[in-house]
Amino acid sequence: MARSKTRNKSKSASPKRKPTRRKNNLSKSMKGKKLTSNQKLTLYLNEALAIENAAVQRLQSRIKQTKMENTKQRLELHLEETRGQQDRLKQLMLDLGDGKGTATKDKAQLPILAPPKSLTNIFGRMMTSAEYDLKAAKEDAIVENAEIILYDMLSHLAEKMNAANAIPILAQSLSEEKSMADWIKTNTPEMITQLWPEIEDSLVMSEEETQELR
Ligand SMILES: [Fe+2]
Repeated sequence: MARSKTRNKSKSASPKRKPTRRKNNLSKSMKGKKLTSNQKLTLYLNEALAIENAAVQRLQSRIKQTKMENTKQRLELHLEETRGQQDRLKQLMLDLGDGKGTATKDKAQLPILAPPKSLTNIFGRMMTSAEYDLKAAKEDAIVENAEIILYDMLSHLAEKMNAANAIPILAQSLSEEKSMADWIKTNTPEMITQLWPEIEDSLVMSEEETQELR
């Protein structure tokens, strides 16, 4: 009986099998294929573009979310810079591909830290809006620093590939990312000063502190 049950189960499971995705076919057809240095560089540039595509979306929502006026203004400036970075990456890919642009519209997964569920649940219940703002600022810094690493490595690769026209473009993006990351770092004490009163208001006194006041 058990046997036939198993067989039935596997029979009924087979039509549910997922169809092969196009993505898989594409990666299969690329397997083992040698690329020219321009084609390879285009792949890397597309990787950077996908990150910037996601970054634009994130910056837009951060600008709406943050209550800190100076942070909002700096994020707005970086949104403009990021749009410039997207345009330069697209133009560079057009130049590398002799006008046959292959710029991706897809968005990468940004490197955002994910604490364990047990902590996320506690944070979700306890966090003030000031702490949400601070958490997002922490994520801003992580994303910008990840972009620094990306453009730094890409610049060195472009040098090896003798891609002379890519180098100043990557250098400009690298310097914009560095200045954004530096701004967040320099502005952190001011950020905490702005957010602290709301965080402090949410705290209750411990027994020790209450006794000290007596
Ligand atoms: Fe950035």
